[in-house]
Amino acid sequence: MITEKLEIKGENYEKGILRAAEILKKGGIAAIPTETVYGLAASAYFETSIKAVFAAKGRPQDNPLIVHISDMQMLKSVARDIPEAAYKCAESFWPGPFTMVLKRAEGIAPCVSAGLDTVAVRMPSDKTAHDIIAASGLPLAAPSANTSGAPSPTTAAHVIADLDGKIDAVVMGADCTVGVESTVLSLCTEHPRLLRPGAVTAEQLRELFDDLVVDKAILAQPEKGARVSSPGMKYKHYAPKTEAYLVSGESGAFADFVNSKQNAAALCFSEDADGLSCKKIIYGTAADEATLARNVFSALRRADELGAEVLYIHAPSKQGVGLAVYNRLIRAAAFRVIEL
Ligand code: TXA
Ligand code: MG
Repeated sequence: MITEKLEIKGENYEKGILRAAEILKKGGIAAIPTETVYGLAASAYFETSIKAVFAAKGRPQDNPLIVHISDMQMLKSVARDIPEAAYKCAESFWPGPFTMVLKRAEGIAPCVSAGLDTVAVRMPSDKTAHDIIAASGLPLAAPSANTSGAPSPTTAAHVIADLDGKIDAVVMGADCTVGVESTVLSLCTEHPRLLRPGAVTAEQLRELFDDLVVDKAILAQPEKGARVSSPGMKYKHYAPKTEAYLVSGESGAFADFVNSKQNAAALCFSEDADGLSCKKIIYGTAADEATLARNVFSALRRADELGAEVLYIHAPSKQGVGLAVYNRLIRAAAFRVIEL
């Protein structure tokens, strides 16, 4: 298959959006930018298109997708029995990097939810994403547009590296501004439950829900065979090919530790750089979690180019969006954590 690269810069914008919408309406699958990461979109109504999304990514069949909407009217065609709490969340966090799990409406292809009776829904704030959904008039199921297991794509080039020739089109939009996938909150559990941390933080959610539950799978490795609330949590994720370790400690201790190792490379903060004698990639400064989030996936993609045997990743704080970055990195490191 030849993957169309849809340019949307300047005067090409309208044409590119309409072409993407046309492909999706005909049942095709197209990668689109969003504020979080690029998504691989298909109509949430078309079973065959959804199956093509799973196939292109090599995604396990039991890992459900997020459905993207452009306005509140569309929510009613995706979810049913919508609780008051959902409207409260929508008012605070939509459009934006926030997903809620609700009861699935009739009409949405069951394979979107991997057979669950719930559905994850998000209204992105990115203008391009919004315009494509609105132009197609369809709720769009879209997982991150990477090969399953690889770091999520935050640029059109990342999507092409993983999926060129396997999908109908890539919308050549701008780099993603948030950089980590949306916060996922379940409203189908006894208490609102944070399933995946993102740029809408646990602290912000606690302001709305004093009974918020933070799923323990966010920071811990699920036990083999255990039932998990968010199926995506149990898979190997975001991993570079180089064996990676997540290392907590202050800058000097991190540098001393890494410098004592053979054939090592570091994914580190700018303040660590001078002290390190090995090859390194800087992903921001420790105090600025939003920048760490924006850079973390492209840094993980470049890590293998350093040619080291082991990669030591300086762990971010778990405050604010730092929790989301930590959650992705602990998976990239296969839960190998070193506390200095
Ligand atoms: O920011 C994002 O959310 C990006 C962009 C493209 O919107 N999408 C994304 O999709 O990250 P994906 O498929 O890579 O991650 C979806 C996550 C998975 O962890 C999945 O298990 C969870 O959402 N999820 C989806 N539907 C669910 C459901 N019905 N119940 C529980 N978890 C669900
Ligand atoms: Mg993903």
